Amino acid sequence: MDVLQEQDHQLSEPIEVDGTAVLNALPDPVLVIDGPGSDIVFVNGAAEQMFQASAAYLRTKALADIIPHDSPVLLLVERVRRSGSSMSQHAVRLDTPRIGEHLIRVDAAPMAECEERIVLTLQEQSIAGKIDRSLTHRDSTRSVSAMASLLAHEIKNPLSGVRGAAQLLEQSLGPEDAQLTRLIVEEADRIVRLIDRMEAFTGDMPLDALGPVNIHEVLERVLSLARTGFASHVRFTERYDPSLPPVYGNSDRLIQAFLNLVKNAAEAAPKDGGEIIVTTGYQHGVRLAAPSGDTPMQLPLVVTVQDNGSGIPEDLRPHIFDPFVTTKPGGTGLGLPLVAKLIGELGGVIDVESRPRRTIFRVLLPMVREGGPGHA
Ligand SMILES: Nc1ncnc2c1ncn2[C@@H]1O[C@H](COP(=O)(O)OP(=O)(O)OP(=O)(O)O)[C@@H](O)[C@H]1O
Ligand SMILES: [Mg+2]
Repeated sequence: MDVLQEQDHQLSEPIEVDGTAVLNALPDPVLVIDGPGSDIVFVNGAAEQMFQASAAYLRTKALADIIPHDSPVLLLVERVRRSGSSMSQHAVRLDTPRIGEHLIRVDAAPMAECEERIVLTLQEQSIAGKIDRSLTHRDSTRSVSAMASLLAHEIKNPLSGVRGAAQLLEQSLGPEDAQLTRLIVEEADRIVRLIDRMEAFTGDMPLDALGPVNIHEVLERVLSLARTGFASHVRFTERYDPSLPPVYGNSDRLIQAFLNLVKNAAEAAPKDGGEIIVTTGYQHGVRLAAPSGDTPMQLPLVVTVQDNGSGIPEDLRPHIFDPFVTTKPGGTGLGLPLVAKLIGELGGVIDVESRPRRTIFRVLLPMVREGGPGHA
């Protein structure tokens, strides 16, 4: 295969031999492009495989020759070139007759010693590509994603058999033993609930599910659910900027995300004098890449959920977005990882600031630019 034969050509690259070997050992495609024409000057082995061409061939091409002309990757490269700083973009669809369809995350970084050159790293976001990547909050949810679909198939069905058998047994047992079968049924139900929760992680959001969403309608819905349900003991304060344009997102996903944040806040708030403050506003000066490049760049919109509970213990703080981290007796520890995944898929960012009586979850979201789809 010419992919293998051509690998020797890379030894003539100006990059040190060791560096090349390291790059070739990486599972993710890496490309280096040069100059305003984005000429390809280096590709690693994984990139050769992805683009199904040898390094020698690819080095005679420009980036625009191997990916579609309207690809968000080209926009991202342009932005990195102009700003001189690194940027990433999630959920980029790369679809050409040669390489087929890929859903990737793209990281673009200018090379320190030569600013004309940009290093592109592509990461597959298919289920297979999601396992074993746990560098960021978003990534930590990915292994859960693959695991959840596995668990759903492999555990739920046999479990319903176990549950049914325990119920049958119960009919022929004395009251003392029946307690044990009831325990089996209850625990089986708890496992199913846990798996249902994890199933929310499976599947990436289709890009066409994104559009302009009125964030205030989302929050109204969340708060009315909260007030009539789990947060009836809490006083809510809403501070909204009514002039905000629509968020670029998906209404169901946003409701799900904020419902989790408000539920955590309500659970943290004191029984007496519990208070949750929800705000919306602009956060100037922060730029985010949208999940799909055909959407205009937006100024991020910020939504905060604040409670007056006792705060997140310091040692727990670095881990709260990891799956299964919980301090609650009935908690799954999947609320915040899910929120991080949902917000990440929309191209947004979440962070937290916490001290006693003041815990703030801050969500930055992309918004539809003036004249963009939200203003049609
Ligand atoms: N507003 C908050 N104040 C204090 N601690 C919080 C807050 N939000 C989250 N935490 C901490 O982070 C942990 C993880 O939260 P997460 O929502 O992921 O799971 P959970 O709430 O414990 O379980 P579940 O969401 O399934 O009910 C919580 O157990 C709690 O210790
Ligand atoms: Mg929770």
